[in-house]
Amino acid sequence: PEDDPLTAAVITLSDKGFAGERKDTSGPRAAKILREYGYEVVEEVLLPDEQKKIEKELIRLSDSRQVSLILTTGGTGFSMRDRTPEATLAVADRQAPGIAEAIRAGSMEITKRAMLSRGVSVIRGRTLIINLPGSEKAVAESLSFIMDSLEHGIRILR
Ligand code: MTE
Repeated sequence: PEDDPLTAAVITLSDKGFAGERKDTSGPRAAKILREYGYEVVEEVLLPDEQKKIEKELIRLSDSRQVSLILTTGGTGFSMRDRTPEATLAVADRQAPGIAEAIRAGSMEITKRAMLSRGVSVIRGRTLIINLPGSEKAVAESLSFIMDSLEHGIRILR
């Protein structure tokens, strides 16, 4: 039904965060923004930048947990360890490139380095998966360009 709360999960990809060498503020920030938009955040996961682990988690959250939306943060840049887009594409049924385009277009007005995020947006089953860059600032900025328009798409997917 239209007023059912939509469910969401957040995955933070960070070798340093996973090793306990850095406190993850980006995942909690993404979760906070999701709650402000009425989503029920059912899981927040912290993983190292390892493609197979990321794929497994994306598959579990979409196929078993059946969340409506998965946001990832981190691992979208040019560092050799950055594999989030590759993991996301590997589990995708269909691409939804307009969302990643909107994030980059909006973000380019803030910093030209936005072009360096390789983040993708895809659909697996009835789950929408969106890659965000790793910094807390980039998470908040990126979501400001897409949150208002997401729910319509997610409702169509259900
Ligand atoms: N997008 C926004 N809105 N704000 C930012 O500060 N930083 C950029 C980019 N996208 C940024 C942004 C930078 S500097 C990089 S290197 C890439 O995201 C990749 O970030 P990641 O490797 O943490 O995923």
